[in-house]
Amino acid sequence: MLTAQENYFAFDDADQSRSESDLHPYECGFSTLARRGASQDVVDNQVFEQFESKVQSYARAFPRIFDRAVGAELWDVDGRRYLDFLAGAGSLNYGHNNPVLKEKLVDYIQQDAVTHSLDLHTSAKQRFIEAMRDIILAPRGLDYVMQFTGPTGANAVEAALKIARKVTGRSNVISFTNGFHGVSMGALAVTGNETLRRAAGVPLHNTTPMPYDGYFGDDVDTIAYLEQMLDDPSSGVDLPAAVILEVVQGEGGLNTARIDWLRRLEALCRLKDIPLIVDDIQAGCGRTGTFFSFEPAGIKPDIVTLSKSLSGYGLPFSVVLIRRELDQWKPGEHNGTFRGNNLAFVTAAAMLEHYWRDGRFEQELNAKSRHLRGRLQAMVDRFPSELVDVRGRGLMIGIRFADPAAAASASKLAFEQGLIIERCGPKDEVVKCMMPLTASFAELDEGLDILERVFEAQFGGHGRAVGYPDFSPVAVA
Ligand SMILES: Cc1ncc(COP(=O)(O)O)c(C=O)c1O
Repeated sequence: MLTAQENYFAFDDADQSRSESDLHPYECGFSTLARRGASQDVVDNQVFEQFESKVQSYARAFPRIFDRAVGAELWDVDGRRYLDFLAGAGSLNYGHNNPVLKEKLVDYIQQDAVTHSLDLHTSAKQRFIEAMRDIILAPRGLDYVMQFTGPTGANAVEAALKIARKVTGRSNVISFTNGFHGVSMGALAVTGNETLRRAAGVPLHNTTPMPYDGYFGDDVDTIAYLEQMLDDPSSGVDLPAAVILEVVQGEGGLNTARIDWLRRLEALCRLKDIPLIVDDIQAGCGRTGTFFSFEPAGIKPDIVTLSKSLSGYGLPFSVVLIRRELDQWKPGEHNGTFRGNNLAFVTAAAMLEHYWRDGRFEQELNAKSRHLRGRLQAMVDRFPSELVDVRGRGLMIGIRFADPAAAASASKLAFEQGLIIERCGPKDEVVKCMMPLTASFAELDEGLDILERVFEAQFGGHGRAVGYPDFSPVAVA
């Protein structure tokens, strides 16, 4: 007998003109809710179908009602357990309900401390700013002021673009192919994805897309191309107010800019007096193995955007880090009712203090990244015709499939086995591992085992027999 939830989400083929396999993965579930056995539970569940907008996306790929979450695990209302390799698209780097951060948050609420304060000064904000200064910025030789924007990543991007335009008096912004920066108008204008851009409903102006590192293959020097376009007074590209990029392109397919490419981009921006914006909303806060994704290159962007995992707890929170001389805002010139979320200040400060005070967490990330990469590479080596390569850096890595449809069914099959894992890339051809950074080695392996079993089922046989390197875990207190 079906549970209430299975009943709700099951396909009722008799009622449908299209079969399940005809549907786009994002259509699965909602449009074909079962009408069988209308128990009270089922009727209640239909609230999503009837009253939530069609704009839902993740909910279509993972059609269950989730109820509890701890660390890297989620449970649905029927008590079924899932491993979370999506982690709020990078917003839960420190896991669901991280106990260290939860304790601080509950204490803060119990004390009737300030929750909402516009941009008033609070003790929670003070503690966060001090932690950011002492634990993150100063040790890395970075001197930024912090602008707290509305709590979405897109709002931080809007603010970054606005301040760059205001300071330089220029309007054009250079973005990169396959970049993703959010879906508000300004952020969309520097985003590549055609479907998202079309949804704007108006032309998206004042930006010029340039080829990202590796866009034409590893041998084409796209910095030389950009330089030529900026040098040539007749190229048609206006001197930009900013260059904006992701060091690892989270939605665009885990394309990763090489160290040398980043250094040359920074040098070019300095030469031409163009502010360099690194959007570290997805790749930052430890995801690529260091707090900022650009650290291995030793570059110092003029502006950095952070959001997603900045609170450490999945709370809405964004900041724009601005080189001091560029902070030319007039009071209130960019604002927002929810700029500065005190609950997020509390958990963010606790996250910085607990995980980033010394190098132990970074060492652990390093060991996990090597283990993860080793296992994914072994899978690519086993199925060389179906799996193209391993992409990304740190714990922001995935596998590119030869056939996007196979990537879609891998994600679907993994979900049936209790693993939540999403896709990215221009054709959604990359299956992307984004487990919490705090997931244990056992949890990493459990998820990877599911993935490998899915590939065996999809591609048949046992592929080519290869081993994978074993890296010992490094314990962090
Ligand atoms: C690199 C990057 N920038 C900006 C955003 C937009 O953030 P938000 O969805 O919070 O507006 C995202 C979201 O995925 C992102 O990955």
